[in-house]
Amino acid sequence: MSETYHIPAMLHETIEGLRVRPDGTYVDVTFGGGGHSAAILDDLGSNGRLYSFDRDIEAYENAGSIRDDERFTFVHSDFRYLGQWMDYYGVTELDGVLADLGVSFHHFDTAERGFSFRFDGPLDMRMNRQGGRTAADVVNGYNEDDLARVLYLYGELKQSRQLAKRIVKCREQSPVMTTNDLVRAVAGKAVTAGQLTPLQKKEMTLVFQALRMEVNDELGALRDMLQAASELLAPGGMLAVLTYHSLEDRLVKNFMRSGRLDGEIEKDFYGNIHTPFRLIEKGLTASEEEVERNPRARSAKLRVAEKI
Ligand SMILES: C[S@@+](CC[C@H](N)C(=O)[O-])C[C@H]1O[C@@H](n2cnc3c(N)ncnc32)[C@H](O)[C@@H]1O
Repeated sequence: MSETYHIPAMLHETIEGLRVRPDGTYVDVTFGGGGHSAAILDDLGSNGRLYSFDRDIEAYENAGSIRDDERFTFVHSDFRYLGQWMDYYGVTELDGVLADLGVSFHHFDTAERGFSFRFDGPLDMRMNRQGGRTAADVVNGYNEDDLARVLYLYGELKQSRQLAKRIVKCREQSPVMTTNDLVRAVAGKAVTAGQLTPLQKKEMTLVFQALRMEVNDELGALRDMLQAASELLAPGGMLAVLTYHSLEDRLVKNFMRSGRLDGEIEKDFYGNIHTPFRLIEKGLTASEEEVERNPRARSAKLRVAEKI
């Protein structure tokens, strides 16, 4: 397993939160570089089982010797289909579900995947390159209002309308096909990523985040997965989620608090709160020492809940 594919964030804290039972059945819905999956397997006995999902086949191709572990099954799928896949494998109850959301270092650091404006590359951003629309399809195909909506909802950019207008103006001259094209379109002039001011870099990061979330329907997949995980977890089973930005974190926080995707807390006649979870970790962040070693762990937030 190559270390540069990904460095797992908050590995110790996450595995501790999962309270791995040696004979339990676990799902890691975001295999990535396999760091968290390997640690779960280390804690599992010979009767334990681990199912790991990733919608990117390159994660599996990089997985190395873990693939030969008889307790391990790789599922090449969007984790939104967690329920259907467990049904397929005849698994009716889970002891733990782990989600480490977003993209891997491999995605960010490979120019041809188009996730980062640090390199020039095709404007792709699909986690699963075997199908679906690319970021270039979104940027060149959406009308101005829809582009503004994506930038506003997923990038929380107040200037979304102005940015969408700039992108549309630019694509009228020629299609926006590369990450450099998008940098120029958003900046409104011919600049390279290296010439951006810190403020422009922040804006660009949010534009790229918004497009990535739209291309991969990240919040939609997260909603479906949380619902399925909640239904599959046995009493005492653990749900551990690492989030990297406020949109996904808010969704996970509300879901763990209420057991509902709309975040509405159900109360009975006497005002007692009914929720399927007991909150264990409410937004733990990486230690200073970890952030120094792995600066990308800076934005990680760990939430853990136990199924009641
Ligand atoms: C942050 S990385 C996970 C890193 C992993 N925990 C490790 O230790 O290396 C996120 C991974 O989840 C995958 N992923 C993100 N959303 C997904 C989804 N909806 N379905 C399946 N895989 C997804 C990405 O392709 C990526 O490989």
